[in-house]
Amino acid sequence: MTGRIAGTGSYIPSQVLSNEDLSKIVDTSDQWIRERTGVLRRHIVKQDTTVSMAVKSAEAAILDAHINPEELDMIIVSTISSNLLMPCTACEVQKKIGAVNAACFDLNAACSGFLVAYSTVLGYIEMGIVKKALIIGSECMSKLLDWSDRSTCILFGDGAGAVVIEAADGEKGAVVLHSDGEKGNALCLETHGKITMNGQEVFRFAVSNVPKVIEELLHKMGKQREEIDAYILHQANQRILDAIAKRLGVDKKYFPSNIREYANTSSASIPILLDELKKNGDIDKGQQLILAGFGGGLTWGAAYIRI
Ligand code: ACO
Repeated sequence: MTGRIAGTGSYIPSQVLSNEDLSKIVDTSDQWIRERTGVLRRHIVKQDTTVSMAVKSAEAAILDAHINPEELDMIIVSTISSNLLMPCTACEVQKKIGAVNAACFDLNAACSGFLVAYSTVLGYIEMGIVKKALIIGSECMSKLLDWSDRSTCILFGDGAGAVVIEAADGEKGAVVLHSDGEKGNALCLETHGKITMNGQEVFRFAVSNVPKVIEELLHKMGKQREEIDAYILHQANQRILDAIAKRLGVDKKYFPSNIREYANTSSASIPILLDELKKNGDIDKGQQLILAGFGGGLTWGAAYIRI
């Protein structure tokens, strides 16, 4: 028994903040941001909240999976930016979509959160406890930024992505997760505070650990790099994606990216990208994917999934 992707959905707020717009707020430039990060613009909430974006992405994923909300056994929302701590965002989603049979909870593993939510659901599916689950990454990063700090405010954006996972016959999914609390100071957010980051340390951490965890996962699965149809990584920075591809010796074209449009949406970035690739026909049934996340904690990991 394993978990398969049955449907995907995403929601991106319509308000765009370009690099040019940002250069009127802090001392920066379009050229600096493009060259250092690959970001051209990001989308920022006006009326939406983490909860409302989670609901809209969930509705789209359920529609795509052709299921009724009552069929869901579990809803997990990954977020570090919810406007509501209690009830949790997952319970709010349950209420709004009428998923009356779902057990609901939120989790926080920062930018690795979607990957951790997926591995949690996979565990429940393989134990036979869950058959259909909804996992969501929803982030309102704009509320967590110090808009006078040019080293962080240029990097992030808002949005939500959701995936319906269904129990299916087939080879077991595989996941590898790691954490290093000793290095947590590299990326911090105090309650009611704003994000602080040692950019160079985070860069080094991602580029050195993500290739290793992908290798570890491939070894565990007995698979070769070339067998993987796409590496769907957390969209933190184009230079990080390129460096990881290079270290792995895999062509960049197998590392799809949409960072230019949305910037870093933390735990929403993987499901937003998955939804975009699926809608554009860039990934298809039967293909083998590796998802990899990394971020605050520090936390990082990778998962193998068939679609
Ligand atoms: N515009 C213009 N200049 C800037 C900006 C900006 N937005 N930000 C910093 N600078 C300046 C600095 O002040 C510094 O100036 P100085 O030389 O006069 O002191 C200079 O640019 C170089 O600064 P660095 O911090 O060394 O720049 P670097 O090349 O390392 O790029 C960046 C910074 C883009 C943040 C890079 O370190 C990086 O990508 N790190 C990873 C960050 C990341 O992806 N975080 C999120 C991942 S985890 C997660 O998703 C939660």
